[in-house]
Amino acid sequence: MPADIFNLDKVSFDYGPGAPALDGVDLTVAGGESVALLGANASGKTTLLRLLAGLASPTKGAITAFGVPLTAEALRDRGFTASFRRRVGFVFQNAEAQLFSPSVAAEVAFGPLQLGLDESAVAERVRDTLALLGIEHLAERAPFHLSGGEKRKVAIGSVLSLAPDILLFDEPTTGLDPRSRAWLVRFLRALREAGKTLVTATHDLDIVGRLADRAVVLGEDHRVWSDGPVGAVLADHPLLVGANLAEP
Ligand SMILES: Nc1ncnc2c1ncn2[C@@H]1O[C@H](COP(=O)(O)OP(=O)(O)OP(=O)(O)O)[C@@H](O)[C@H]1O
Ligand SMILES: [Mg+2]
Repeated sequence: MPADIFNLDKVSFDYGPGAPALDGVDLTVAGGESVALLGANASGKTTLLRLLAGLASPTKGAITAFGVPLTAEALRDRGFTASFRRRVGFVFQNAEAQLFSPSVAAEVAFGPLQLGLDESAVAERVRDTLALLGIEHLAERAPFHLSGGEKRKVAIGSVLSLAPDILLFDEPTTGLDPRSRAWLVRFLRALREAGKTLVTATHDLDIVGRLADRAVVLGEDHRVWSDGPVGAVLADHPLLVGANLAEP
């Protein structure tokens, strides 16, 4: 059995009194898995990814990452945070929130530069990443002026250039045209085949079967309603209707 990457034990998260976003979530993600996180709007998908990414800590319950407690205290340790960020990449729901550099090349170079790679190694990472995403032609463009789909690719590139083993994607296909969406699904599958661990939040049920081995369904009560092989979850129509993921 591959080692567990993440383990969540009765994790709850509130944004404030009476504002629950997750309630008693138990979840394990093993190395090399591709897990789809399904749930209606406001069910807590983004919040869960933020916890996995170490951008927030549970209000209740505990998370371990790579067997180590992922606590607010651990995340205050710069050494721990630096190695965690190298291993776990997070592609935001809103690509624009992730883009801040004057050019696409600079955007993709930012992470490797932070890691302290030398200039030629950074240049190589940037070249490889842009080629992988098929966006070499955008290298000198300003990210801010790209189309939504192009921005998504650059945001993915800015994360992939860090070469993380674990990738968290938040609604990666939203706003993509059919060709870009098909490309992205193939791309995510290739990442998985390359041995990456993927957690993808989505309510795009059409892509889930092609993307994931396992599906976790969050209900509108912010609890886990189902966790199992993707085929079984997708075949459970009453579950999908109950979780507001399918029309009755
Ligand atoms: N920064 C915040 N402050 C207060 N409440 C928040 C904040 N972010 C999210 N919430 C609330 O937490 C709940 C879960 O939100 P979250 O963004 O995790 O849902 P989601 O499943 O990602 O939804 P969507 O499909 O719309 O992206 C919602 O009720 C939301 O209003
Ligand atoms: Mg969300």
